[in-house]
Amino acid sequence: MKKVAVIGSGTMGNGIAHVFAQNGFPVSLVDISEEALQRALGTISKNLDRIVAKGNLTEEQKEQTLQNITTYTNTQEGVKEADLVVEAATENVDLKLKIFRDLDSFTKPTAILASNTSSISITKIASVTNRPDKVIGMHFMNPVPVMKLVEVIRGYSTSDEVTQQVLDLSKQLGKVPAEANDYPGFVANRVLMPMINEAIYTLFEGVAGVEEIDTIMKLGMAHPMGPLQLADFIGLDVCLSILNVLYEGFGNPKYAPCPLLVNMVQAGHKGAKSGQGFYSWANGPKDLVVADRFKK
Ligand SMILES: NC(=O)c1ccc[n+]([C@@H]2O[C@H](COP(=O)([O-])OP(=O)(O)OC[C@H]3O[C@@H](n4cnc5c(N)ncnc54)[C@H](O)[C@@H]3O)[C@@H](O)[C@H]2O)c1
Repeated sequence: MKKVAVIGSGTMGNGIAHVFAQNGFPVSLVDISEEALQRALGTISKNLDRIVAKGNLTEEQKEQTLQNITTYTNTQEGVKEADLVVEAATENVDLKLKIFRDLDSFTKPTAILASNTSSISITKIASVTNRPDKVIGMHFMNPVPVMKLVEVIRGYSTSDEVTQQVLDLSKQLGKVPAEANDYPGFVANRVLMPMINEAIYTLFEGVAGVEEIDTIMKLGMAHPMGPLQLADFIGLDVCLSILNVLYEGFGNPKYAPCPLLVNMVQAGHKGAKSGQGFYSWANGPKDLVVADRFKK
């Protein structure tokens, strides 16, 4: 695998482009928004500066990494030579199906088409292409340059050969891949989201307050942050939409989103990105205080 294209240059796309470029791959970074592409290059440069400051990269390597990235607003141009495309566009089924239909016609027939989706079925995405054996999930974690895991998701028709190539490639990027089959939520979100939902239920039912729930899970289970803070960080709208995927996908009431979560999302309290969730994020992550609504 030589040339890589990344579709979408938001939170995840810029991190994915960064990691491939830093490992010597020429990367085409594609977005519909020129502004998003410029922002992504700025973020990548800043993140590389941090690695240089820690002594883990030289200035020359930083420059080389940036030179490995070319930006495009035209998808066809950006992907035509790619051996691997990693799609990290907005989480929307119809959008992803359209993107994969286009990728199927714009790329070389041998190219592997991967999606970074958190919750959409890889098998469904593969079904709109003429190469379902070459469609796979490559689920990076946020922030991509820091987090080691890549959850590699095999769609119903993904071939052994393509799976092995993606597992090997993930290792080449310095990541640790773990393979999962394509069922709702895969592994990461199927295990994480019910825990977050249960934490919200314990708050909703008055079992404990925000700080107590997070302290118990942080110190008691050695989690780096409590589930409510993590939910705010991921985005409460994202948590709700993944819980709905689990709920609908399995038809099991145990995945039903807590009514408090539904209310918060409807009220626009989406966590860190909206400034308010279980915590107030007005002063950034280093100075978190429980949101007024949940103060005792
Ligand atoms: N944010 C996370 O923590 C996280 C973690 C794991 C996986 N994911 C998944 O990664 C994907 C991207 O999430 P994100 O948080 O980076 O989103 P984001 O909103 O930060 O970025 C999405 C980008 O996609 C671009 N885009 C939209 N339509 C496009 C198109 N047709 N062609 C090219 N670009 C297009 C947008 O302009 C935007 O820049 C989603 O599938 C999400 O579920 C996100």
